[in-house]
Amino acid sequence: MNIGILGLGTVGGGVVNVLNKNKATIFAHTNEEINIIHVAVKNLSEARICPNDGLNITEDAFAVVNNPAVDVVLELIGGTRIAKDLIKQAIKNNKHVITANKALIANFGNELLSLAKSHNVYLLFEAAVAGGVPILKSLEQGLSANEIEWIAGIINGTGNFILSEMNDKNANFSDALKQAQDLGYAEADPTFDVEGIDAAHKLAILSSMAFGCELQFEQITTEGIGKIASEDVAFAAELGFVIKHLAVAKYADGKIESHVQPTLIPKTRLLANVDGVMNAVLIKGNAVGTTLYYGAGAGAETTASAVIANLVDIIKGTISDDILGWKSLKPMPICDTDNVCSIFYLRLLVADKPGVLANITATLAEYDISVEQVMQKQVDAQNNSPIVIVTNKVKTVTLNKAITQIQTHNFSQEKIKIIPIETLD
Ligand code: HSE
Repeated sequence: MNIGILGLGTVGGGVVNVLNKNKATIFAHTNEEINIIHVAVKNLSEARICPNDGLNITEDAFAVVNNPAVDVVLELIGGTRIAKDLIKQAIKNNKHVITANKALIANFGNELLSLAKSHNVYLLFEAAVAGGVPILKSLEQGLSANEIEWIAGIINGTGNFILSEMNDKNANFSDALKQAQDLGYAEADPTFDVEGIDAAHKLAILSSMAFGCELQFEQITTEGIGKIASEDVAFAAELGFVIKHLAVAKYADGKIESHVQPTLIPKTRLLANVDGVMNAVLIKGNAVGTTLYYGAGAGAETTASAVIANLVDIIKGTISDDILGWKSLKPMPICDTDNVCSIFYLRLLVADKPGVLANITATLAEYDISVEQVMQKQVDAQNNSPIVIVTNKVKTVTLNKAITQIQTHNFSQEKIKIIPIETLD
């Protein structure tokens, strides 16, 4: 099997190293040699994490996808411009393509998958979600007897690292982000990590796999972790919760609810204990119940592990015809944010006057919102006091109406903080 590699950075270099290091083991699976016959890089003189010797390297990436001797192209450049043109060209040349490019699949997967199908080749992307964790394969094969009810994942290592540092070490946001960047986990544009865009790319892919729908990245509600204050982390802990940047997709009544947002989860759940740059995805199937998949979500050899697993499947011919893109993917209605039901954490800062708490709970009651927990903290120098409330399950639109009403009172000293809670039952 002759392969061409586009990009010899972290992931590409990792692929070369793992193919060298585990040559015999990989051969035992494929019974066929894997030859890297053509490699494209942006800059020939750049330092690399893998040896260059023996590699046929060019700066002309199109020479690789147009090389008639290349059977499979590994697109490991990233980004959505040149990478897209290269993948299209490779497919048009009837080559299978393997990519780790979540942004590209989330944004253009529908078009690229249908192009691949029309050329009778595979476009595979296990490495695009949760690095080396074989999550797409698990959904496609191991859970094939299940209707998937929901998925909840921590699928951005950088965001999880920042929240873990804030949680465990009282770190501030920018120091933790800088550390994640230095460790090579963050995206080229780190707003993709902290604003939840990277996690939304991955959630779009997971949802398609789980529910058999088109990739619908644009419709995912995405909220970043920038709004999380250290008080929220501390109050959540007192109430028995941990704040995670959670990506959730649920299927109910023919609609999908999908969002990436800071979320409180009970401390006792396994997901609450996924710390640092680690990723984890919890999946509820209607036969199997909940299953959890955990591992490093980024890194050279971690991601290479998933890329090479796809390559091995192509060589062994073990890809089933119902992989994503070969079955017909339909758009599926997305539940609009107003209609999403959740339990909520509310943090208010109120003037310390008699009747304030009664007024707040009366307004919530007016909207049929019940209070499950309430916690009032010491009055500060300005005679204001923080109040934290956990509601029962309520529609977002109803909660927002009650909150708007509470905020009209002059006892309300700042914008009320609202964070959803997922119990993951
Ligand atoms: N920036 C991503 C993360 C890298 O932090 O998870 C892996 O996709």
